[in-house]
Amino acid sequence: MPRRILALETSCDETAAAVVENGERVLANVVASQIDRHRVFGGVVPEIAARMHVEAVIAVVDEALRRAGVPLSGIDAVAVTHGPGLVGSLLVGVQVAKGLAFARDVPLIAVHHLAGHIYANRFVRPLRFPLVALVVSGGHTEIVYMPEDGAFVPLGGTLDDAVGEAYDKVGRLLGLPYPAGPHLDRLAQEGTPRFLLPSPRPREGDRYALSFSGLKTHLRRLLEEAEARGETPPAADVAASFQQAVVAALREVAAEALRETGARQLTLAGGVAANRDLRGALRALAEDAGVEFVVPPPELCTDNAAMIGAYADVLYVHGVFADWSLGAAADLPLAAASLPGREAPPGPTRKAAAVIPRFSTEPVDVGDNPGITRG
Ligand code: KG4
Ligand code: ZN
Repeated sequence: MPRRILALETSCDETAAAVVENGERVLANVVASQIDRHRVFGGVVPEIAARMHVEAVIAVVDEALRRAGVPLSGIDAVAVTHGPGLVGSLLVGVQVAKGLAFARDVPLIAVHHLAGHIYANRFVRPLRFPLVALVVSGGHTEIVYMPEDGAFVPLGGTLDDAVGEAYDKVGRLLGLPYPAGPHLDRLAQEGTPRFLLPSPRPREGDRYALSFSGLKTHLRRLLEEAEARGETPPAADVAASFQQAVVAALREVAAEALRETGARQLTLAGGVAANRDLRGALRALAEDAGVEFVVPPPELCTDNAAMIGAYADVLYVHGVFADWSLGAAADLPLAAASLPGREAPPGPTRKAAAVIPRFSTEPVDVGDNPGITRG
């Protein structure tokens, strides 16, 4: 009998439900995006996000079951993202998942959002360990080493803004609509990277650390100074320069991780994985290093529930279930997503992982709009 998991994802501004079979087949994947409601604020407003999840979640679950052609009675477990993310948003999914699992008397499975992003690659190709995963989205920038299935060793990530967030902020400087990532990416294809920008890799200290706020400040100043001189630098050249600096830094940390861990596979995930230059650079890196490169199709890169079902299946097979006290964890370390006994795997990166502070998943400032945060 196939295992069918109903998965829910409400960590940020997408209300999503999916039905996944054996962790490998997507029977249905429904996503209701709230982006139109948040766009005018230039970021996600947590209060609005939570309320919209409440309004949409049952219809989204119902639609996922309908499209999968599976009744609720045909579901073997209910999985849900319990963190990290916006706490009010997470609570909606957690509470609905608990209700459904309780009513059907099936296991409840708690999934880490980033574990889901990484396991979205399962739908493309079987994961092969050890692997290195790069998770890049509007809320996250993490480089992760996985020595085996269900073992997450965070190597590092951003010390300030997430990559997608940096795209959105720089895009705003250039007058692009939110979310600016895809627009900036397109613009960059038409420009020449002629501005010399600071590298997002701190010169000293941790090899896996990234920092994007300096880059953004540098660009803001560059544009302000040009304006004071009565000049307008071509937006396409600014975009191309920014993209080149970002992609080069991500390629370098990925290269470093492949070298250090001897991984067999490089996987990319998160909304920024849609970026053309980034995909191309990592594909080339993987080819040079002789490792397999995997990236999900765009609809499985951005937030969705199928990815939550993909990792939930691993937890199901290992009998890792949540109890009825499950809550939402706004700031949940990725290492906590590891299977029991695989939390601190031995390997070349153990020491490095122990000393690297995990980047904060707390809501961060998005400029002039008080009360607006990115999840
Ligand atoms: O994973 P995602 O849908 O939501 C979060 O969990 O944040 O990622 C959305 C982010 C946004 O910041 C958006 O600007 C960025 O991904 N993004 C891109 C591209 N497409 C989306 N950034 C750069 N290049 C792109 N092509
Ligand atoms: Zn995400």
